[in-house]
Order: sequence, then structure tokens, then C-alpha cells
Amino acid sequence: MSANVEPAIVSVSCTDSGKQVVAHAERSWAFFKSMGSPKYHVAPMVDQSELPFRLLCRDNGASCAYSPMMHARLFAQDPKYRADIWSTCKADRPLLAQFCANDPNYLVQAAKLIQHECDMIDINFGCPQRIAKRGFYGAFLMDDLELIEQLIIELTKGVSIPVSCKIRIFPELEKTLAYARMVERAGCSLLAVHGRTRDQKDNSGTRADWNAIKAVKQALSIPVLANGNIRNLQDANECMAYTGCDGVLSAESLLVDPALFSPSRIIPGNEYNAVSGVGLLRDYLGYAIQYPVAMRMVKGHVHKLIGPWLSEHHDLRDKVNCGGLSLQGLIDEVVKVLDVRIKESGRTYPVPKLSERALKRLEKEAAIKAAIEEQKREEEAVAALDEKVDSVTPGTNCDSCDCSLSQKDSKPINDTTEDTSREGGQQSESAEVGNDCGQIKKGKETFEVNESEQGQPPR
Ligand SMILES: Cc1cc2nc3c(=O)[nH]c(=O)nc-3n(C[C@H](O)[C@H](O)[C@H](O)COP(=O)(O)O)c2cc1C
Repeated sequence: MSANVEPAIVSVSCTDSGKQVVAHAERSWAFFKSMGSPKYHVAPMVDQSELPFRLLCRDNGASCAYSPMMHARLFAQDPKYRADIWSTCKADRPLLAQFCANDPNYLVQAAKLIQHECDMIDINFGCPQRIAKRGFYGAFLMDDLELIEQLIIELTKGVSIPVSCKIRIFPELEKTLAYARMVERAGCSLLAVHGRTRDQKDNSGTRADWNAIKAVKQALSIPVLANGNIRNLQDANECMAYTGCDGVLSAESLLVDPALFSPSRIIPGNEYNAVSGVGLLRDYLGYAIQYPVAMRMVKGHVHKLIGPWLSEHHDLRDKVNCGGLSLQGLIDEVVKVLDVRIKESGRTYPVPKLSERALKRLEKEAAIKAAIEEQKREEEAVAALDEKVDSVTPGTNCDSCDCSLSQKDSKPINDTTEDTSREGGQQSESAEVGNDCGQIKKGKETFEVNESEQGQPPR
């Protein structure tokens, strides 16, 4: 694809079906094809879609990858930040380098530093996190569409490779379509649509809206990628078939199974199970030795890939968490040991064990729950008896219990001379249903004091 993609604001037409056709559409498609028309994309992930992880995913079916989001101003100004966050190699292509920005000058400066090392420069218009709100970037730029347009136009003019964008949807479809069309007109050559709104931060709790993604795909003439709810290869293919999109991105599920795009995953006997993570972690660590990255990134992957096993093998979890192990140490003292233990167990699933602290916490929670239930039970029993007591005419037998006391035999309500065997007002059922109707009332009064203390552990 030629270097600069002209902003197509002046050269837009519309087909009968409502599709917007921009002047750079043909070039965008030619470029997409030159990258191999990639379908299966490693989504951008802060601290998690770094070089060793991208290489691992590429070995296992991913056809393209995004870098983690990089802060354009910091990237342009701080060589230390740059060295920490950016690395690539020959095998790491096609590659989309993603920035967040709200100043076109910094965005262009940052992008120019690496435009020779990647295939596209991507702008993140999708980050919904608080940090993005504070810094006014990502999805918060949806409040300033003119700035979004400006960023795309300036970047398209300023770099020698095509520009891609990743967006979220608005709650209203028409607004989403107008937004996507604007992004395309401004010069975007490849658009990834995350089918959730800015407020839908909980990826696992909210289904992505594939209908909105489909509508965006139908409205644009550049390649469009779908993002959200891609948990396996079947989801990926179904999503492309349903939305008509040209590829998909996966994030959270890919962290757990970096081989989810691999065709071998749908061969019977080779499906993902908890053991899969062990071999994948060994390969990941091999890449991390070759291409060093920050230890926080490595640890993130260790927990995603073998986390369930670590909750069974606490000694191995402690080794990972103590931070003293080198990458080779992680292979030798964690991965290899775990491998042997899994084989010896004959299981393909972990049996998590609770830590001492977790056990104590659970015991305490159970005691509180039992105390609350006991109090409720007492209240119901007393209330039931109370009703019956009220219906007993003085001088007649009490039919609420087996007693045959008349009112004159009963004790005064406030008589506390009996039943001192229990402390803190914790009356037993036997005390409440004793053959003295007056004591029942006393029991209720005592209980009402206790009720206000619900949620307190038993004393
Ligand atoms: C750990 C993590 C880090 C992420 N970091 C980024 C990021 O740097 N840039 C971005 O555009 N989206 C980021 N996302 C969002 C994902 O790219 C993706 O849009 C979102 O998780 C939905 O995809 P999924 O349903 O496959 O998880 C991140 C997601 C996760 C789980």
C-alpha cells in the first residue's frame, strides 16, 4: 500500500445498500491482502500482548497481532518507557502497533519512531478504564469526535504506513454507524469494532453485540474486524460468518488458551484442558528468555496459564510469587515439577486446595451465617407460639403447648428469675417453648434485642 492514505473526506460515495465507499478503500484492501488477509488476531492487551506472547500465539494459529497499548507522549519522550514496552523481531509480523493519544503531534512523533518495524499504526479509541478517563484518551474520546477525526487525519498524513483504529460501540446504533463512517472517512484503513459500550467494562459478564458489529461492517468499505466473545475457534468462525467481518480479535480467552486459533484445537482428543497450559507456558518462557520482557508480564501469563494448578500446589505458587526465580528457574522448578506431578496424579484437572488463611476466613463466615440462621429460626418459632398464646382465653388450657396452666399460674412477663443458664440472650428453643407462656414472651423480648445484633459472630 502506498505510504500516505489521503483523508477521504472529499471523496466519499454511498451505494444503494447504504455502504459508504471511500477513495482509499481499494488501497486498504490491497494492503490487507498483502498482510495475508489475516483472520485471527491477538487483541491488544496492556502488559499481556508483548512479544513472547505474540510469538507463542503465532505458533499456535494466530495470523496477526496487536502490541499492547502504548502511551504516545511517553513513547515519544521517554526512551526508558520505550525500551520497557516495545520490542519486536522478524517473526513478529504482521504487527499492529497500538497507541493511545489525545495530541496528534505526540501521536505522529511516537508512530514515526517505529513505523519501519510494524505494518500498521493503530489508535486505541476503546479503553474504558479510569486511567483513560483521567488521561482523556481511549473510549473517553468518544465525547470529542472531532478530536478523534483530527488524530486519524494527522496520523494518516504523518506516517508512511496505513492507520488502523479500534473502537467501542455507542448504545445507539445510528450513533455507532455515524462514528464508524467518520473514522473511515478520516483515513482509517482497518477498523476493529469491540461490540461493547464504554460502560460495559465487564467482558465476561456482558455479551458483545455482534449485530452492531455486523451493521458497521455493512456500512463501511474498508476491512472490518470483530471483537468480543471469541472464546474458541468455533466462535471465531461463527462470528465472521454472522457479522461478515474479515477477521476477529480475541483477548481474555487467548490469555487462558493461546492456541485457541489453532485448527488442531478442534481435532477430537486435542481440545483445550487444564493440562494444555503447562506446555504452552514452557514455550512462552522459552520466548521470554530469548526476548526478555518485564517480569510482571511473565507472571501475568504464568497465572493465566497454570493458575488453577497453582491453587492445588501451593509450594509452586509460592515459588512463582516470591519473585526470586529466573525464567530458567521457572521452567526447572515450576513447570517441569508440575508436569511430573500432573502425570503422577493421572488427572487432567486440578483439585484446588484452600490456604490456611482462606480456611480461617471460611470458618468465620460459616459461624456468622449459622448464628444469623439460628436467630431467624428462633424468631419464627417464637412468633408462631406468640400467635397461639394470644388466642388462649385466660383461665382455659393453653392449646399452643402441652401445658395446662391458667393465666394466674403464669409468671410475670418481666420475671427474669428463671432460665439464667444461657448468656447474652441466646435462648434455646426449649426455653422458649417451655410450659410457661409468660416465659415465651420474655424469650421474644430477649430475642428482639439479639436481632439488632445480626451479623455479629456468636459470643
Ligand atoms: C489484560 C487486558 C488488557 C487489555 N489491554 C488493551 C489495550 O492495551 N488496548 C486495547 O485496545 N484493548 C485492550 N484490552 C481489551 C481487549 O483488546 C478486548 O477489546 C476486550 O478484552 C474484549 O475482547 P475479549 O472479549 O476477547 O476479551 C485489554 C483486555 C485485557 C483482558
